[in-house]
Amino acid sequence: MKVFITGGTGFVGRAILRHIHLGLRNIHIRLLARSEQSLQKLGESAEGVEPVYGDIFSGDILEKEMKSCDMVIHLVGIIKEKDGATFEKVHIEGTKCVVDSARKSGIRHFVHMSAENARADAPSRYHTTKYQAEEYLKKSGLTYTIMRPSMMFGPEDQNFNELAKIICSTPVMPVIGDGSYIWQPVSVDNVAELFVAVLMEPRAMGKTYEIRGPEKFTFEEILNILMEVTGKTRPRIHIPVAIMKPLASLMDIVSSIAPITLEQMKMLLDEKQPPSENFSADFPIKLTHLEEGLRKFLAPCRP
Ligand SMILES: NC(=O)c1ccc[n+]([C@@H]2O[C@H](COP(=O)([O-])OP(=O)(O)OC[C@H]3O[C@@H](n4cnc5c(N)ncnc54)[C@H](OP(=O)(O)O)[C@@H]3O)[C@@H](O)[C@H]2O)c1
Repeated sequence: MKVFITGGTGFVGRAILRHIHLGLRNIHIRLLARSEQSLQKLGESAEGVEPVYGDIFSGDILEKEMKSCDMVIHLVGIIKEKDGATFEKVHIEGTKCVVDSARKSGIRHFVHMSAENARADAPSRYHTTKYQAEEYLKKSGLTYTIMRPSMMFGPEDQNFNELAKIICSTPVMPVIGDGSYIWQPVSVDNVAELFVAVLMEPRAMGKTYEIRGPEKFTFEEILNILMEVTGKTRPRIHIPVAIMKPLASLMDIVSSIAPITLEQMKMLLDEKQPPSENFSADFPIKLTHLEEGLRKFLAPCRP
């Protein structure tokens, strides 16, 4: 099997490559990379991977390089907008370019990374643009599988590692609102396992899988677990949403490295939607529990 992968140098992409290297060596990977530098992030997983340099807007390169591939895994997405990379541009225009190239190249199965809560009337543009990308793919005539994971945890994730850093380095833990919003995080290794399992699998074709972890937590409970794992207890300061929203808008304007953007706040506070199709009936994998997973990559705070 020959798979063309976009976004393979990112957090999820690296987990998928690790998974392929661990088990299924008969999968050949052709990987789209924007630079030599981003390819270096793969480390040992780069072994046997065939790089193709370009980005998701390089239609000619995509079409040419997908021609001898059977499948596409399209992972590219952004959580924060910067340097002209807007949600509309990356999620909608970028996906259109990848989907069109895949159709012209005769790709047999397109596995698309979306996100939990993607829908037309979501409060955040991250989710509405993810939804529009899904719709474009569904109407493209390609055989597809759409994956909608919840927030993921794993080595080098941007959420749990960052929260652990704050716990270790600041005397108080800021919490947006009352902290009662729900997270149902899933292990990136479980998501990677599913991406590999669905490839060319007839049961997965034409389906949209909701991929959530085995437990639901409030944000406050997530902090309890993180404090347990890092061995540090911090008092919490609750910042009302009415104060945080204008503050986040202001940070969006003045800094590209704001700790939280307004769009991220909207995602955080968005109520979890009931799942559509669940993967577990088709792919009954064993899901990792959050605390067990965190202990594998988060160390206790250094004195
Ligand atoms: N992380 C989560 O908890 C989570 C949850 C649900 C859904 N998702 C979705 O999963 C996908 C992957 O997320 P991630 O956490 O792995 O993100 P990430 O670590 O930021 O990786 C993003 C990847 O996309 C590539 N990329 C960005 N813009 C590109 C462009 N214009 N052309 C080509 N490549 C481009 C990056 O390449 P460089 O290496 O060159 O930067 C990188 O390989 C995204 O679609 C995200 O929305 C993530």
